[in-house]
Amino acid sequence: MLDLLLKEYATKLDARLDILLPESGQLYDNVLHAARYSLLNGGKRIRPVLLLEFYKLCGGEDDCAYNFAAAMEMIHTYSLIHDDLPCMDNDDLRRGKPSCHKKFGEATALLAGDTLLTEAFGVAAKTLGIRQELIVRATGILAGAAGAAGMIGGQVIDLENEEREPTVEMLLETYRLKTGALLRASAAIGAVLAGAEETDILAAETYGENLGLAFQLVDDILDAEGDESILGKPVGSDAQNGKHTILSLCGLDRCREMAAEYTQKALAALGSFPGNTETLTELTDYLLLRNR
Ligand code: IPE
Ligand code: IPE
Ligand code: MG
Ligand code: MG
Ligand code: MG
Repeated sequence: MLDLLLKEYATKLDARLDILLPESGQLYDNVLHAARYSLLNGGKRIRPVLLLEFYKLCGGEDDCAYNFAAAMEMIHTYSLIHDDLPCMDNDDLRRGKPSCHKKFGEATALLAGDTLLTEAFGVAAKTLGIRQELIVRATGILAGAAGAAGMIGGQVIDLENEEREPTVEMLLETYRLKTGALLRASAAIGAVLAGAEETDILAAETYGENLGLAFQLVDDILDAEGDESILGKPVGSDAQNGKHTILSLCGLDRCREMAAEYTQKALAALGSFPGNTETLTELTDYLLLRNR
């Protein structure tokens, strides 16, 4: 059931992304070609699904939040392109295909990431059918989550962690930012765009924050013992880069236990919504057990 729903969301989102970021036929087309190569097909689309599900849960109607869902996926994809670059994690495989820089070269990959980040805000700004003050607030959340106090900040700490011995607390803060920020923002933006009450926006943030921690803990586990052909990205990358992770610090069992604990906290936050949270509950459970 969930599987089918995720496929439906992905199909609809991909169609929207295809229209929102077309190739241009201009001399600079190669950068759009590279951006689309990384963006279209292959991702799980978890952030857009969260955004759209929270939008629905909080009473949002129609497809009005799709541009924000697309913008979120564009920013996430840009973060993956840059994350794979030789100056960062130096990974050659992404979403089951050669990484953007492997296919197009480092400079084009860098600029494809820049394109996705920049165009994402144009896409968000073209949202129709939602009150302007809600669009402005959601845009602020998106920028904050992607910026230095969000995903980028997390990536900085993550790289610096390679040169020191971080504590579990420092690693949790890294995960909260590098991965949690966009997941938390996805839930919050869905709620904001639907015109939710402040208490519901807060609950969406609490959900996203805890899901983000669980999500990165599972990502670490999959990096250690996943199946590359299913995962679509290299296994063993963290160890190869000498990354200090919660897994390397606390061991597999404790890492699994922590992922389950944060998943429970995320589920508890869903409990405060009066609406139907069945899909979100199923999705949250699935993300703990996923193999990709
Ligand atoms: C991978 O994110 C990077 C992290 C933040 C852990 P996803 O696991 O959502 O990757 P895709 O979008 O499905 O490729
Ligand atoms: C990256 O964490 C989070 C991002 C902001 C991209 P990882 O470096 O562990 O993500 P993967 O495993 O390469 O997808
Ligand atoms: Mg990384
Ligand atoms: Mg990486
Ligand atoms: Mg990883």
